[in-house]
Formats: sequence, structure tokens, C-alpha cells
Amino acid sequence: TGPVEFHGPHQAGIITPVQDRLHFAAFDVTTTKRDDLIALLKEWTAAAALMTAGRDIGQYGAVNGPDEAPPEDTGEAVGLPPARLTLTIGFGPSLFDKRFGLAAKRPKALVDLPHFIGDDLDPNRSGGDIAVQACSDDPQVAVHAIRNLARIGFGRVAVRYSQLGFGRTSSTSKAQATPRNLFGFKDGTNNLKLEDTDKLEQQLWVQPEDGPDWMVGGAYLVSRRIRMNIEIWDRTSLGEQETIIGRGKGTGAPLGKADEFDAIDFAAKNSDGEPKVPMDSHVRLAHPQFNKGAELLRRGYNFVDGSDGLGRLDAGLFFLAYQRDPRKQFIPIQNQLARTDTMNEYIHHVGSGIFACPAGVTPGSYWGEKLF
Ligand code: HEM
Repeated sequence: TGPVEFHGPHQAGIITPVQDRLHFAAFDVTTTKRDDLIALLKEWTAAAALMTAGRDIGQYGAVNGPDEAPPEDTGEAVGLPPARLTLTIGFGPSLFDKRFGLAAKRPKALVDLPHFIGDDLDPNRSGGDIAVQACSDDPQVAVHAIRNLARIGFGRVAVRYSQLGFGRTSSTSKAQATPRNLFGFKDGTNNLKLEDTDKLEQQLWVQPEDGPDWMVGGAYLVSRRIRMNIEIWDRTSLGEQETIIGRGKGTGAPLGKADEFDAIDFAAKNSDGEPKVPMDSHVRLAHPQFNKGAELLRRGYNFVDGSDGLGRLDAGLFFLAYQRDPRKQFIPIQNQLARTDTMNEYIHHVGSGIFACPAGVTPGSYWGEKLF
């Protein structure tokens, strides 16, 4: 329930052991003035440092201000512990258009994502100039944080879309148990973990030789709102479900193995000569061995946003993946999955975003300071 340090070499909320709840918001910048944008980022940083420490924002907070003015803090987190709140910011490709004079600073790795086979993207749930990922073990704390950032941003930014997530679908530390996604499978077994420090340098954090300078120590975030056809999945046999994923549903072990963390044996064959881990299974297609060594730090959440009016739950996975270079990681992996993954019969991607998340904030500086 305690606080997670806001300041540090890397932004909190990436390798931080995944919290239980998510409120993710993508903002459009509505001001055209560069100075307004900088002022906003300064105000947001100050508020984020207070909220992640479990404090009200502003000088007077929620209830100690003058009677005549709206309170500086909206108040619904008063009395709640910080619940490991982290706030992580990222800048989308559209921020680097002509408005703020940032075009020359756009990182080459911050590409516009290509169209993937089967994409069914809703523009109103995609893109965004700025994203803020709020994660906390208490949903009210996460919602309070996004609400107050949106309120501070009034007249300068507007929420483009936001997403609540209620159950983590990955672990980012070996100390965490692997949770389950809405297909009922353990998700996050073969994830990058904070203990893999060498791998984090190779796969996650932008290195000095990658540039640009303002991104060194940061990472790129790809977000995908993935709708799951859970009603169809729920009528699929257990054996078929396990074949699609390539792992057992109970243990999470790779097919043909006994324990969750056993290495996957892609060469093992059944008595009929077919591979135990099928060629078109999700874990085979997503595995670094078949993706030139590329890995991702996955940090997604389950969502159920009511129903779709057709008797089906509007449910799925809000996929969040951090990486050093999406051109070598998310894009080729997703291209391969989009082409051949049998899971595609049960999912479709309906929202998408890509964001450059700079390095951590040092005391006295602000989110993205080196960009300006
Ligand atoms: C592994 C589910 C989408 C990349 C897994 C595993 C499950 C799973 C159950 C096995 C456990 C684990 O190692 O974490 C899903 C579901 C998805 C989805 C239900 C969509 C609703 C994606 C997407 C990507 C991706 C879009 C990337 C483009 C990976 C990777 C692994 C993995 C890299 C680890 C493979 C390995 O090294 O063994 N996923 N996944 N997944 N998934 Fe997904």
C-alpha cells in the first residue's frame, strides 16, 4: 500500500512490479502554444510527485482552500494510501508535428505503426499526443490521478480516450505470481522481469548509441486495445485452447513440460510426429527464438467495458508493452502473430497507440524537460 518513488533514473511504472489496477489516458494537446505545453508539463510533474506520495495536490489540497474557489484537489483519494500509484508519461508521434517546433526531435524509433492484418482500429480509441499510464493497487487512486491531471490540463489538453483495467495480465518481477488473462491462462510467464538487469539494457531501455539524447534511459510503449471474443472462446475445448496458446491451462507449463517456468522445447514431437508446441501456437510465434531475439516487457490489463448491445461482453486485454525499439520488437512480432496466430479467431485489435516515454524525472526537473 506504500508509495513508489516518483523520481529516479527511469520512470516508475515500467519495471515497477505490476499493480492490480490501471487507468490509462491519451490526451490531445489543444493549445497551440509551446510555452503552455511546457507550463502544463511542469504542473503535471509537481502534481504527480504529490499524488504518488499519497498527498493532495496544490497548496491547500481538497478541503483546506478558500470557500469561494473550487478545491485544488478533487478529494476522492483523501484518506486512501498511495496504493503504489505510479504515473508514467509518453509522447505520441502527433506531438512532433509542426505545432510545437519538435519535429526535429522526433525519435526515429517513434514510427507510425503500420497496418497489421486484421486490424479493426477505432480512431477514437487510437493515437494521442500524450499518454499517461496510472497504475495502482486501488482503482480509486488511479482514477483520481488521471482525473486531476485532466483537470489541471483544462484548456491545454483534452482526454482523447481512456481505459480502465482491473486485473494485471503480466508480472514484471520474479517475486510476483503470474496472473491470468480473460482466456483463463497464466499470462506473463516469459516476460522481461526487473531482475533481468542485463536484458533490460538490451531490450528495454534506450541506450546512448540509439539516441536521441532526450530518450536515453527511456522506453517506447505500444498500447493495443484487444477485444476478446470470450463467448466463442468459452465454447472451445480445453485441448484446443491449450493448443492455441502452447501452454497448459492449469499449470501454465509449456506443452510437453510439467512446470510453468520450464523452458519451452520447440523440437519435441508427439507420437504422431507433430510438434508438441504447435507451429501456429501463440508462444511459438511470439518467442524470441523466432523473432531474431526480440523481447517485450508486457504490462497489460484485463478490461470489461459493459456489453456491446449484441449480448456479448465488451471484454479483452489492454495490451501494454515497453521496449527499446518498436521497429525491432513489437512490429515484427505483431506482423508474425497477425499472419499466423490461431488466436486471431478469438481476438481483434480495436485500438492502438505508440508513445516515447522519456527517462525518469530528477527532483527539480519535469516530465520531458530534455525534449524542450
Ligand atoms: C506469451 C496471451 C497478445 C506477445 C503469452 C502467453 C499467453 C499470452 C497466455 C503465455 C504466457 C507468457 O509467457 O506470458 C495473449 C493474449 C493476447 C496476447 C490473450 C491477446 C488478447 C499478444 C501480443 C503480443 C504478444 C499482441 C505482441 C505483439 C507475447 C510474447 C509472449 C507471449 C512476446 C512470450 C513468448 C515467450 O517468449 O514464450 N501471451 N497474448 N502477445 N505473448 Fe501474448
